[in-house]
Amino acid sequence: MTDQPRADVLLGVNVDHAATLRQARYRGRHGSAHAEPSPAAFAREALAAGADGITVHLREDRRHIQEEDVHAIAALPGVRLNFEMACGPAMVAFARALRPAAACLVPESREEVTTEGGLDVAGQLTKVAGTVAALAGAGVEVSLFIGPDETQVEAARAAGAPVVELHTGAFAEAWGTDAAAEELERLRRACIRAHALGLVVNAGHGINYANVAAVMTLPHLHELNIGHAIVSRSLVRGARAAVAEMKSLLRRS
Ligand code: PXP
Repeated sequence: MTDQPRADVLLGVNVDHAATLRQARYRGRHGSAHAEPSPAAFAREALAAGADGITVHLREDRRHIQEEDVHAIAALPGVRLNFEMACGPAMVAFARALRPAAACLVPESREEVTTEGGLDVAGQLTKVAGTVAALAGAGVEVSLFIGPDETQVEAARAAGAPVVELHTGAFAEAWGTDAAAEELERLRRACIRAHALGLVVNAGHGINYANVAAVMTLPHLHELNIGHAIVSRSLVRGARAAVAEMKSLLRRS
């Protein structure tokens, strides 16, 4: 019997840094007719080039993405929106009204962060489980952005989330040093544990055109969320070329 070909890994394009660039010049005036770049226009280009989804993080401090951006992106035809958010009540209310396809709970305050930089699900299980339930009740698929730590993976399962996004930041930081192999191994163990618990496994943060091949060796990956590298390459090569190139690197066949 021959092995089934493995499905391509999906590409979620995080457009936050298109907003970062706009806010660098147009903070407080992002609604002006001259304000650019538009994260929604960037998202439209990304989708045209084959992005499987668009991710935005509406931070409580609104440092990059604004509410208007979220609504403009949610209105793009055919978009699968992944809404990154903190666990607080205001954001939960916003997300329940928005009803994106997916929401990813991320840490914003120091107390919510584990040593790996992901959400400390194990340390605030009741709060996270309540947020997962509130979002699931509005038809939103919830993922939890956690460090590659088996305790956090098990807590994510206990919190009722169907998806985890493993934080690849420590691996990306270690890239090019002897520590990278160890970080990749931690990610590999977390992927295996999450899959064994029935969780869908996504990953993201710090993934770029150089280190993505190593990330692609991880088992059970469903989707990678990539922002900074794609937005950066877009400045030189154009958004469609930057997205298409990353998409080709996520192909299994
Ligand atoms: N995944 C999550 C949960 C994030 O918060 C971010 C942005 O920090 C990313 C992925 C994308 O990270 P990057 O911009 O480094 O590709």
